[in-house]
Amino acid sequence: MSGPRMVKLTAGEHWLCRCKKSKQNPFCDGSHKGSQNSPRQVILKQAEEVAICQCGNTGNAPYCDGSHNK
Ligand code: FES
Repeated sequence: MSGPRMVKLTAGEHWLCRCKKSKQNPFCDGSHKGSQNSPRQVILKQAEEVAICQCGNTGNAPYCDGSHNK
């Protein structure tokens, strides 16, 4: 399975893609419009490098919890 994607995020609001159609993965680019999917909002108090789950099995979405290793 695929491991997480490391992404440096600035402090503030971010919208992460959940439909897997975005051309700006892992960020929403509006490609979900017309589907039942919607992006996931993430708000950070400070800039941070985060591990975004790419396998879909995490129990701590949108972050990796190591489930891809199981
Ligand atoms: S483009 Fe995928 S959720 Fe918006």
